[in-house]
Amino acid sequence: MFEGVKDIKVFKGIGELVTLSSAAARQGRRAAAKDLESIRDAVVVEKKGKIVWLGPRTDLPTKYRSSASVNLKGAVVIPGLIECHTHLIYAGNRSGEFERRNQGESYQSIAKSGGGILSTVQATRDASEGELTKIGQRRIDRFAKQGVTTVEVKSGYGLTLKDEIKMLKAAKALRNARIVPTYLGAHAVPKEFANADAYVDSLIETLPKVRRYARRVDAFVENGYFSASTTKRYLAAARLNGMTASIHADQLTLSGGSQLAIEMGATSADHLVQAGLQEIAALAKSDVACVLLPSSDLYMDIAYPKAREMIDAGAIVALSTDFNPGTAPSQDVALVGILARVQMKMTFPETLVAYTVGAAHALGLEKEIGSIEIGKSCDFAVLSGGLDELFLDVGHMPIARTFCQGLETT
Ligand code: NIG
Ligand code: FE
Repeated sequence: MFEGVKDIKVFKGIGELVTLSSAAARQGRRAAAKDLESIRDAVVVEKKGKIVWLGPRTDLPTKYRSSASVNLKGAVVIPGLIECHTHLIYAGNRSGEFERRNQGESYQSIAKSGGGILSTVQATRDASEGELTKIGQRRIDRFAKQGVTTVEVKSGYGLTLKDEIKMLKAAKALRNARIVPTYLGAHAVPKEFANADAYVDSLIETLPKVRRYARRVDAFVENGYFSASTTKRYLAAARLNGMTASIHADQLTLSGGSQLAIEMGATSADHLVQAGLQEIAALAKSDVACVLLPSSDLYMDIAYPKAREMIDAGAIVALSTDFNPGTAPSQDVALVGILARVQMKMTFPETLVAYTVGAAHALGLEKEIGSIEIGKSCDFAVLSGGLDELFLDVGHMPIARTFCQGLETT
């Protein structure tokens, strides 16, 4: 036996291997049809969760020929999809708000009258860590079946140190995907605090305790939530604690969120519905990924972000569901891609690259995930049909099997 041959798994019978490595080499900027070029009759070799070799079957080194193998029977294989923005852990639901918004009430006025984020906070505080894990696991499994191998999971419905840590611990217990926990203590000002500044002061004190559970923070920079200047103070403290940042930016109003993301070196600015050409030009020049969340725009019945302008200006663009009980109560990955194509006029290659390479950048994990390359995590989705069947049919992703770190999650 060759040394270490038992730790090795050979994925063979790959009809077409779409690696997206050329898109990854450009940080996913300006994705084009050429980025979808595939290796036919390919093999991927995995060791300890990472890719150690890939290429055409005929080139497979002899040392791997007697290793354990998995036959993928001629399927098309793509990099695992990355959900880079979710509020996956929450209790209760806010279906009543959806009805109210459709009948003319605004998100902000519903929040003022006791609904909104703070109503999910109440339900989530009332739930135990075990209950949250159980609810969360069902949701992760729904993503895995759609080809998702990495899920970012925000806290933000606890808003006390104890309840935020409870959410982050529930996130840590989730299986069947790589979980990227994000501390969203700055989601809304809880009733216990008089104003955002006083609350942010208390959040800053929690950072040394929270960083054990999450290495990135997020903040909702918006009128009535957190101003750019208050958030700047918070992000500076997060940086001192060795944490990276993302920002809910320019969603309902142009609140300075995207500018702040650039200034503070955040890995992503998310939503960007209100971002204009000036903001877009600045984002395109930066390494901040523009995370677009069109399901929430659909549910909120607001405009869609200017994805065409972002992509044409050379920005890093990512897509995600924003799955949450208020503005995006849907885990439908196909819907996100379809809205990107129909409403934002993103091409198919741009859509696929945004859900993989772009999303990896949004999480600061571009060296580990997003494309199928030697040295990266062995995360991929095996399609049940052709590449052209992706992001086509609402409610349906043509996925036969999903593998994260070489292990099947479906
Ligand atoms: O991404 N905008 C802030 N956060 C969520 C909504 C959360 C909620 O309404 O519960 C969002 O849209
Ligand atoms: Fe969100």
